[in-house]
Amino acid sequence: MMMISQTVTANPILKIFKYGDPILRKKVEDVTDFTKLPHLVEQMFNTMYEEHGIGLAANQVGYSLNLLVLDTSCLEGEEDSKPYIFINSEIIESEGSTIMEEGCLSVPDIRAEIERPETIIIKFQDLEQNFHEETFNGLISRVIQHELDHLKGKLFVDYLSPGKKMLIKKRLLEISKNGSPSTGIIL
Ligand code: NI
Repeated sequence: MMMISQTVTANPILKIFKYGDPILRKKVEDVTDFTKLPHLVEQMFNTMYEEHGIGLAANQVGYSLNLLVLDTSCLEGEEDSKPYIFINSEIIESEGSTIMEEGCLSVPDIRAEIERPETIIIKFQDLEQNFHEETFNGLISRVIQHELDHLKGKLFVDYLSPGKKMLIKKRLLEISKNGSPSTGIIL
């Protein structure tokens, strides 16, 4: 893990791929070449901050790699959080269950309550290729699980019941055609 300055804005912002793009459905590859990662990670943070996201998976910006970044510190009650970088990460244990509202930069203007494990233990690598094993809970656990789903080609709307899926079917189609739905919805 390393700190990335939030004031760095020199890098161009990456395009975020939206619902309907096949790259979001393709399982990513593990990172083997770490040399270009610092630049990509910086661009991902800049993109995430610019879009007011709290987590971003590499395949959302066109890189099919096991890499995710997150930073929840912009949220009330999360001020003590910091930027996190997870490379080649994998959940090795999960426990409990909790419901939280989720949204996604690739599925704009749709929010829904999703049930997931409360606590997770993940193993991952940092930019220096060191291996770590760490336990997370609360919002950071939630964001990690959402982003790790991205890396497996899964989106939060996949968890919705058939009835709720019907409710957002038209909006998802609009996102895949125009990049955003004509109206937002909270399920
Ligand atoms: Ni997302």
